[in-house]
Amino acid sequence: MQDTANKNTFTLTNNQTEETYTYNILEGTRGPSVLDIRTFFADTGLFTYDPGFTATAACTSTITFIDGKKGELRYRGIAIEDLAEHHSYLETCFLLLNKRLPSKEELNDFDLEIRHRAYLHRGLQKLFDAFPDDAHPMATLSAAVTALASFYDEHIEIQNEEAYLEMAHRIISKIPTIAAFAYRQSLGIPFIEPDIDLSFTKNFLTMMRAYPGGKMHLCANGHEEIKDVEVRALDTIFTLHADHEQNASTTVVRGVASTGAHPYVAISSGIAALWGRAHGGANESVIAQLEYIGSVDKVEAFIEKAKDPNDDFRLMGFGHRVYKNFDPRAKILKELQDELREELNLDTELMAIARKIEEIALSDEYFVSRNLYPNIDFYTGIILTALQIPKTMFTPIFVIGRTVGWITQWIEFKKDETSKIARPRQLYTGK
Ligand code: CMC
Repeated sequence: MQDTANKNTFTLTNNQTEETYTYNILEGTRGPSVLDIRTFFADTGLFTYDPGFTATAACTSTITFIDGKKGELRYRGIAIEDLAEHHSYLETCFLLLNKRLPSKEELNDFDLEIRHRAYLHRGLQKLFDAFPDDAHPMATLSAAVTALASFYDEHIEIQNEEAYLEMAHRIISKIPTIAAFAYRQSLGIPFIEPDIDLSFTKNFLTMMRAYPGGKMHLCANGHEEIKDVEVRALDTIFTLHADHEQNASTTVVRGVASTGAHPYVAISSGIAALWGRAHGGANESVIAQLEYIGSVDKVEAFIEKAKDPNDDFRLMGFGHRVYKNFDPRAKILKELQDELREELNLDTELMAIARKIEEIALSDEYFVSRNLYPNIDFYTGIILTALQIPKTMFTPIFVIGRTVGWITQWIEFKKDETSKIARPRQLYTGK
């Protein structure tokens, strides 16, 4: 970022006082420039008003770049299409944390370390017993990640690069175990410990599905081995979720980081923020909505409801604050869904309803004029259903993928000398 004062400035006039003020425009490497208004209140006595931060940059970052008009997403400069096609989720984690892809040897070491750290302290395992059967796994997951902080006090004051990475590796590694335990707790069935011989993604599927002591799996259509195609699809979903710059949950993570709280507490807050259906909870809501619609012949009536300005019904899995052309993650998943059609059971009534909604929404003037395209959650909902994963686990799966992004953003925040406690202002309209 360059400060191009004098050459690159923006002058504002207060028409009440006729005073003018000049502010620097700061240039990034890509994307819109920003107006540096850090002295604005001191200069003018005014606050700026921007609910939902639609025009406000709250940090500088080198992690993820999105061009919403072009439908472009890059992690550390590398296009998401390239990562999804040629690299694994663990390579993507290494990239986010280390700003470059790993060599073969580095990847082996990283993979081994992540496998070894997947176990949970026995004391932490007892926490799960406090939750009722049928507790939503997101509630258990968020609570368990807060509890995890108390096992690793040392991460609150991190002194060097090695300690940052150890803290990050630990949470990336344990999140799938916690998510799988939370799921099994919700079913009231015994936990399956991590298996060091399995890859990150296959291990998660096994911990979620296996019968105790065996390789049989709890699938809706009977017991079967985990298929390679399932591992590949889930690994791609993790990669596509790995980071998404300053979205709502990441903003929460940075906000908690700004108070000096433990990094895992910040992650737990991110999990809570992600749960909402306007954000990561949308994937579960997509399928709940398709089930509610129930049959293809009812789709048009629900589309009319979504378009009605007097009805707050929204089509889940459509629209995005940033993408105004298409969501590149959704495009990759749509292709994956088509590839999976032959191998997995995608020809169900639910899938037919999804296809009909997609078809109408992509051509209907209401959706086209508002740039409301299917987003990542529309397709993850469909693919995870085809993988026979229950819908309460969709958002925990988003959490598993996003943990690396949150923790990388946490580290970036901590290392940034300009970071300050998050403390917005308000326009008071009360008595
Ligand atoms: N169905 C019907 N109408 C919609 C939808 C929708 N899903 N989304 C937005 N609109 C309309 C909205 O009513 C408004 O219309 P008008 O201009 O006539 O008032 C217009 O589109 C703009 O909507 P907005 O709420 O101002 O847009 P936003 O940028 O604040 O919200 C959003 C973005 C994702 C919260 C919203 O599109 C939404 O609620 N979508 C459904 C939930 C969803 O799928 N969320 C997952 C987002 S992707 C995963 C992630 O990154 O978290």
